[in-house]
Amino acid sequence: MRLLVSGRSGLPALSDLDAAGLFTAYAAPQAQWARCNMVTSLDGAATGADGRSGSINNEADHVVFEVLRALSHVVVVGAGTVRTEGYPPLSVADPLVPLRRDHGLPDTLPLVAVSNRGEVPSTLRGCRDGRALMAVPAAAAGLDDARRDLGAENVLVCGDDEVDVKALVEALHGRGWDHVLTEGGPSLLGSFLAAGQLDELCFTIAPWVVGGEHPRPVGADGTPVDLDLEVLVEQDATLMGRWFVRR
Ligand SMILES: NC(=O)c1ccc[n+]([C@@H]2O[C@H](COP(=O)([O-])OP(=O)(O)OC[C@H]3O[C@@H](n4cnc5c(N)ncnc54)[C@H](OP(=O)(O)O)[C@@H]3O)[C@@H](O)[C@H]2O)c1
Repeated sequence: MRLLVSGRSGLPALSDLDAAGLFTAYAAPQAQWARCNMVTSLDGAATGADGRSGSINNEADHVVFEVLRALSHVVVVGAGTVRTEGYPPLSVADPLVPLRRDHGLPDTLPLVAVSNRGEVPSTLRGCRDGRALMAVPAAAAGLDDARRDLGAENVLVCGDDEVDVKALVEALHGRGWDHVLTEGGPSLLGSFLAAGQLDELCFTIAPWVVGGEHPRPVGADGTPVDLDLEVLVEQDATLMGRWFVRR
């Protein structure tokens, strides 16, 4: 993987990056840090013909996707994406576990599904070991069921009628989960941006045009933000970048 823009990583520009190099290139610059990771086609689609992101990503994106997970304490995903993409409880890719430990991160990688309704996605049902959590508002119709299913300690109540993303991030930090990664989808990403809760956007720009009508990576709630390019990596005509939110 070729490093095109090295930012403050200290890595030489135009060097080839292995997994350890990617860990350095994508390291969080401060103790508490929240970022997203999304993939888009060159013409701005967040999904391909099958309505999922799996048809617009590729191996280069997958490598960075796994590194970003391995650099995180927790992954936060909208319940819609958990359902559409069939997210199971997560684990860090085996080859990345030693690097993760070197960065002081635990072996477990909890997944938080964000839902206003509070209905536990089928792929997470019955997971009571703390790898699957829900973030719901107090008024969620499925709150009691979610508590029964996942264990009360695995249901975060953040907000009254709707999930309050700021309260959610505070709750995650309260558990010692300082490096927060959200993998979307577009609705949740819009909420994170509207709440001013993202420090960084990681985007993969995949080398295809899909045409037609598809969701964009940021949904309707998204607030305009100005960004600074921090890191840019290329492989197989695919661009993977880090953009920091300008404060
Ligand atoms: N290109 C990419 O990188 C990428 C990444 C992720 C997803 N996707 C694609 O995006 C599509 C899904 O889009 P989407 O916008 O519907 O995804 P989403 O944000 O994951 O799902 C929307 C659902 O998630 C819950 N939710 C989202 N934001 C919330 C908030 N702020 N507060 C409370 N609940 C919230 C709600 O669930 P309840 O209905 O349970 O209340 C809502 O109905 C899929 O096709 C997926 O494949 C693409």
